[in-house]
Amino acid sequence: MDILLMGAQGQLGLALQPLLAGLGTVHAVGRRELDLSDAPAIRQYVQQWRPQLIINAAAYTAVDRAESEPQLAQAINGIAPGVLAEEAGHLGGALIHFSTDYVFDGMLNRPYVETDEPHPLGVYGKSKWLGERAVQATGTPAVILRTSWVYGLEGSNFLKTMLRLGQERDHVRVVNDQWGAPTWTHSLAQATVTMIRHGIEQGNCVQYMQQHQGLYHLTNSGATTWYEFARTLFALRPECTATLTAIPSSEYPTPAQRPSNSRLDNRKIAQQLGIVLPHWKDDLQECLRELP
Ligand SMILES: NC(=O)c1ccc[n+]([C@@H]2O[C@H](COP(=O)([O-])OP(=O)(O)OC[C@H]3O[C@@H](n4cnc5c(N)ncnc54)[C@H](OP(=O)(O)O)[C@@H]3O)[C@@H](O)[C@H]2O)c1
Repeated sequence: MDILLMGAQGQLGLALQPLLAGLGTVHAVGRRELDLSDAPAIRQYVQQWRPQLIINAAAYTAVDRAESEPQLAQAINGIAPGVLAEEAGHLGGALIHFSTDYVFDGMLNRPYVETDEPHPLGVYGKSKWLGERAVQATGTPAVILRTSWVYGLEGSNFLKTMLRLGQERDHVRVVNDQWGAPTWTHSLAQATVTMIRHGIEQGNCVQYMQQHQGLYHLTNSGATTWYEFARTLFALRPECTATLTAIPSSEYPTPAQRPSNSRLDNRKIAQQLGIVLPHWKDDLQECLRELP
C-alpha cells in the first residue's frame, strides 16, 4: 500500500513514521515538500504520488497565534483537509485525519461524545471544525480522530515546557481549572497503525475505512488538569525542583480562550474498533522512560 503522511515533522508525524514503516511504502511529507496553505499544490502533489491512504497529521497548532492569523489557520486546518480528502477520493483511496477537543466550548459537565454539537471558542477550534466538515462533505472514506493535549518528547508541548521550567525556575504557576486528557503521541500513533493493520488484515484497507468512516474521540484514558499533570510529572522527575502553584485561568490570560472541560468520551472507538488507550498516568511514565 502507498501511504502519504502529511505533517511528518510534527510531534504526531514523528511518532507515526517508524510505526508505519512495515505497512507499505510510506512517503513522509513536511512543510518543505508541500505547503498545505496552497490548495492547487496539494492537488498536484497527491496526483503525482497516487497514494491509497493519506494520513494528515499536519495542522496549524499555534492556538494563540491563530487569533491573529485566522486566514492561514483556516487554509491549513479548514480547507487543506477537504482538498486532501477530495484528491484521495479521486484516486479511490482513503484519509485518516486528526482533530481536536478545542472544537467544544467546554460548557458541558460530562465528557463530550461525537454527536455533541461543536461550539469552538477560538480561531484554532473553528478552523479544525471547518476541516472536519470539509472532509466529511467529500464522501471519501475518512476516519477523523479527535484527540486532546498531545505531548511527546519531540516537538514543543506542555510536557517539554514543564520539564524545562521545572529545572530553570524556583516557582511555576499552572492553571488548575481546565480538565482534559493528556495524550501521548506514541499511543495515538499506535492506535492509528492498529486501525490500518485491521484494514490490511481484512484484505482491503480502503474498504475498511469506508465501513468504519466517521468521527471518533481518541485520547488517553482518565482526566486531569494541567496543574495535576505538571504535579505528576514533577513527582516522577527529581530534576524538576520548582514549586508548583495552582492558579485559575483568569490569572493566566491568553489571546485564545480554552474550554474548561476538554474531556472526550472514548466509548465509540472502543466499541466499534476495539481501540482503548492506556491511562494518561501510565503513558506519562512510559514516555518518561525514554529520557536519559
Ligand atoms: N498538540 C495538541 O495538543 C493537539 C491537541 C488536540 C489535537 N491535536 C491535533 O493533532 C494533530 C497533530 O498535532 P501535533 O501536536 O503533532 O502538531 P505539531 O507538532 O504542531 O505538528 C504539525 C505539523 O504540521 C506542519 N504544518 C503546519 N503548517 C503547515 C503547512 N502550511 N504546510 C505543511 N505542513 C504544515 C508543521 O510543520 P512545521 O513544523 O514546519 O510548522 C508540523 O510539522 C493535529 O491535527 C492537531 O490539530 C493536537
